Order: sequence, then structure tokens, then C-alpha cells
Amino acid sequence: MKALTWQGKRNVTVEEVADPVIEQPTDAVIRVTSSAICGSDLHLYELLGPFIDRGDILGHEPMGTVVEIGSDVAELAVGDRVVIPFNIACGHCFMCRHGLQSQCETTQVREYGSGAALFGYTKLYGQVPGGQAEYLRVPLADYNHIRVGADLPDDRYLYLSDILPTAWQGVEYAHVPEGGTLAIMGLGPVGQFVSRIGIHRGYRVLAVDPVPERREMAERHGVLTYDLTDTVVDELRDLTDGRGADSVVDAVGLEAHGSAGIGLMQQAVGLLPDAVARPMLDKAGVDRLAALYASIDLVRRGGTVSLSGVYAGDADILPMKTMFDKQLSLRMGQCNVKRWIDDLLPLVEDPADPLGVMDLATHHASLDEAPDLYATFQRKEDGCIKVVLNP
Ligand SMILES: NC(=O)c1ccc[n+]([C@@H]2O[C@H](COP(=O)([O-])OP(=O)(O)OC[C@H]3O[C@@H](n4cnc5c(N)ncnc54)[C@H](O)[C@@H]3O)[C@@H](O)[C@H]2O)c1
Ligand SMILES: [Zn+2]
Ligand SMILES: [Zn+2]
Repeated sequence: MKALTWQGKRNVTVEEVADPVIEQPTDAVIRVTSSAICGSDLHLYELLGPFIDRGDILGHEPMGTVVEIGSDVAELAVGDRVVIPFNIACGHCFMCRHGLQSQCETTQVREYGSGAALFGYTKLYGQVPGGQAEYLRVPLADYNHIRVGADLPDDRYLYLSDILPTAWQGVEYAHVPEGGTLAIMGLGPVGQFVSRIGIHRGYRVLAVDPVPERREMAERHGVLTYDLTDTVVDELRDLTDGRGADSVVDAVGLEAHGSAGIGLMQQAVGLLPDAVARPMLDKAGVDRLAALYASIDLVRRGGTVSLSGVYAGDADILPMKTMFDKQLSLRMGQCNVKRWIDDLLPLVEDPADPLGVMDLATHHASLDEAPDLYATFQRKEDGCIKVVLNP
């Protein structure tokens, strides 16, 4: 089959690789019909090379049709149409039973001290072959699927694999008071959905992003948007009685624009030999914290900062005095996809499309075009906001 593989920093290629097969009786194999590129894939493209091997298959936002099942799979049949959550969970351990599927104790990657295994996401998360490919092996398939109907187009359902539940969790964790103000840093695909969920719930939603077409898209859905300027935090504070937003979702993460010095450090790490770079990335606090700092600054006293954006350094410096003095709550983490599906399925199937899932993808393309589109998406060229591959 054809698959999108990682070959080095800012270098991905489509290669002919062996078809996936049933390895465990609990596996299924799906033929992938749609598979999106995520902002998280950009971290692999740019930064997390020390944890990836040349040839690893990327992708963790797939859906498709079941073509083969292992002998122990009871909940799926060949021909079923399914979306595959990006985290791989068992559904019955302590963490899964508590709605913490991204911490699943059956699939945790203990070697690296990580939570649940993920598709297409480095050795830190189990080095499981990803879904930007013609076929995908799905471990623990009885639990790791969302079965969907046959009538609606893929784009209705595809984002259930990751960004829609991620955004939903981001808003849940943000603990916005009824009718309160939710501010969002970042209007990538995750920030788009965070804002729309905020509007859907009746909050006042203010969002910041430096890219004009991303702001325009959010404005189409009723969001008030602001450019990333030196004064934007003050401007937003003025709009919230000088107090700040009740809640802030950081939908940017570790590759924020805005603190060049640390950016250079990241650059350097991306080019080091793996054995040297890995411990540095893990411990040395090389994150760019611009969006997180802005979130902490912008939230009102007693408010909540919710991180949907991914962070990865273990020695980052946080403004503890400010956080303590402002009495902040801070929540974060990889999304627990299956926890939110019952809330989201009716919304994506609603003919009125309340979260606008049909207004996100700017690019549909074949797998062969994926390498070019990684570059386009990273550089935010050609109005690119979300890429959906149709292998
Ligand atoms: N928690 C999870 O489970 C989970 C799931 C999916 C994605 N993510 C993470 O969410 C983040 C966003 O993903 P995405 O797909 O939307 O990616 P993206 O890269 O398209 O979006 C990031 C957006 O932030 C904007 N931005 C950059 N610096 C900024 C700043 N200082 N202030 C405000 N905006 C800024 C960029 O212009 C861009 O629009 C990534 O870190 C991704 O890894 C987390
Ligand atoms: Zn993703
Ligand atoms: Zn589990």
C-alpha cells in the first residue's frame, strides 16, 4: 500500500510499504477513506524528530471501512464504516472507566513514562503505524472505533477522531461560568472548534490569531477575533471590565509565534543527533511559551486556563507567583476521545451543522499530494486551515 512516511525534519514522502495485517486477535484493519493532517503532525514535522525513525507512518485522524477483523473482535464486522480515535485505549482499565482514555493503563508507554499509545506519534507514544495511508491496523478494535452511518459525507464525521473532542474537552476543562467570557489563543482547526463550541453554549467568545483567513473563518461563525499584537492582551482585558476573561483556552501549544530566542533553541535541537537531542527536548525546557504566558496574563483572577495545545518540555519555567496570586485553575492534557462522543455525534449529524464541521477543510487531496500539503499547512499558505487526504 501507499503511506505517508517521516524521513527527516520537514521531509515526508509517500512510499510503497507492506499492507498492515491482523497481528493480534483483537485487531481490525480498515481501508482509509479520509485522513486529516493535524497541527500535532506539524510538531513531528518540525521538532520531535529525535523520537521518530525514518519510514514511520504518520497520521492519527482517520476514518474508513473495516476490511478484516481478528478472531476476538465482536463489535465490528467487515464493511462497517468507522472513525478511529487517535488514542488507543482498552475501555476497561481504571483510567478508561474514569473517562481518562488518553491515560489508558493497558496501552501506556511506560518506557517513556507516557500515557496511552497514539497512532502515528513517535516512540514516546508507542510508535504505532499511523493512518495517513491506504490501510490501517487498529489495535483493540472492539473499543477503538466510533461506528457511523452510511449516508453523510466523511467530513461530517472525520473530526470525531481528534480535533472535535479535543476542542470539546478544552471547553469542558475551561469551566466557563454560564454566559461568561471565553478567550481563545489560536484559531487553527482546534481553536476554530473551541470557539464554535463556545458560541454554541452561549458564551461570549473572543479569539486571537495572527493569520487573517483564520480570523475570517471564525468570524463567519460569530466569533470576535483579534490579531496577535503586543497590546492584544490589554485590549481583551479592557473588553472584560478590566478584569480578564473568565476562562482561556490555549489552542496553540509549543510552536507559538512570539518568543524568537527560544525558537532558535528549538531549531538547534531539531538538527542535533537523536541521542543528544532527546534528553534535551525532554528536560531542557525548550518550549515556546508565548501563548501559555498570554493565557495566564489574560485570564481573570480566580479563572481557569485550559490547555488544548500540546507542550513537551519538562523544565519549562512558569510564572508561579502570578499563577498563585491570581488563584488560577489550570487544566490540560491529551484528549480522551471516546469520553465525548455521545455529546458530539448528534451535533455532527444535525442537518443544521451547529459546529460547522462542513466549514473547516480548505484542502482535499490525494495521498500523493500530502508532502506538499504538509509544507503548505505549516507555512499557512494558500489559505490552508485544514487538510483532508482521501487515499
Ligand atoms: N490535547 C490534544 O489532545 C490535542 C489534539 C489535537 C491537537 N492538539 C494541539 O493543539 C494545537 C493546535 O492544533 P491545530 O491543529 O489547531 O494547529 P495549528 O498549528 O494549525 O494552529 C495553531 C494556531 O495558533 C496560531 N498562533 C501561533 N502563535 C500564536 C500566539 N502566540 N497567539 C495566538 N495564536 C497563535 C497560529 O497562527 C495557528 O493558527 C497544537 O499544539 C496541537 O498539537 C492537541
Ligand atoms: Zn490530531
Ligand atoms: Zn484502558
